[in-house]
Amino acid sequence: MPVISIANQKGGVGKTTSAINLASALAERGKKVLLVDLDPQGNATTSLGFNRSEVFISIYEVLMEGMDAESAVFPTIQDNLFLLPANENLPGAEVQLTDRPDRAYLLKHALINVYSRFDYILIDCPPSLGILTINSLTASDGVLVPMQAEFLALEGLTQLLKTISIVQENLNPSLVVYGVLFTMYDGRTRLTREVENEVRDYFKGRAVVFENVIPRTVRLAEAPSHGVPITLYASKSNASEAFRNLALEVINVTETSVREGAQGPDPGKHESVETAGGAAADTKGEIGDVAPSGTGVTDQTESPPAPPVVS
Ligand SMILES: Nc1ncnc2c1ncn2[C@@H]1O[C@H](COP(=O)(O)OP(=O)(O)O)[C@@H](O)[C@H]1O
Ligand SMILES: [Mg+2]
Repeated sequence: MPVISIANQKGGVGKTTSAINLASALAERGKKVLLVDLDPQGNATTSLGFNRSEVFISIYEVLMEGMDAESAVFPTIQDNLFLLPANENLPGAEVQLTDRPDRAYLLKHALINVYSRFDYILIDCPPSLGILTINSLTASDGVLVPMQAEFLALEGLTQLLKTISIVQENLNPSLVVYGVLFTMYDGRTRLTREVENEVRDYFKGRAVVFENVIPRTVRLAEAPSHGVPITLYASKSNASEAFRNLALEVINVTETSVREGAQGPDPGKHESVETAGGAAADTKGEIGDVAPSGTGVTDQTESPPAPPVVS
């Protein structure tokens, strides 16, 4: 079943909030869900009530020390919702990974052992396009892009779409964009509605922009401090309803994608892929282009790694 990257290189756009609460809403519908915390800040881990400094087997040990992913899957407060947490070692991973030739495939390989146990695997990505996000995109069937309806919204997406197309070309040809999600949505402001229209126009016929938007509400900001998803913290709130409806949309999109994929050379699937990439089709690049900035490692990835040896 689908592995979904929740990705946007901008911080504070609602990735973690979307990852936790979508995962929870899917779990509420009876889907068995694994949330993978791939952000060195570990916000998803903390928001589900785990203490990062007390997590000894985490995504870090799985990626970097070859620990079986199965041993790092923990139950959460909610039935059907499981967490593969981050701990305080993860910030070191970006740098430590630079001289591993298989560095882009570590997550994909690690998840093989747990893949069949879950209906959905959601990956909360860091706010960068570094090697951890590349691992996530390489391991995923599709990407969900949370974004705020604000000035220059589309401009911020270009870099992400470019990265997705580079991953498609080099690491994971079957990656699709499942959809764009508006977060912290305030329909009362004109700017929000204008940006929403612009983004919906832009993606029309190319990629899904989810009908359901996530409202801006303090409830969503409060829930993490109680260590629970919104569907448990404020079950009847608009935000809970929004995530429940989004879960239905996501189930629909991912199942459609699987059906199209099963038909062979999946025209539908590739259409959305290429269009997403097509937004930046003039920008050809190597994986090295998307190495993290500021870590001094951009030259480590000149040639893309060999294709995965995965059956
Ligand atoms: N819909 C929302 N309404 C109000 N606050 C929100 C909403 N979504 C996220 N937030 C808050 O905004 C901040 C950033 O959200 P977060 O999900 O952590 O973004 P990211 O993971 O992209 O950095 C957090 O403090 C979060 O609680
Ligand atoms: Mg986050």
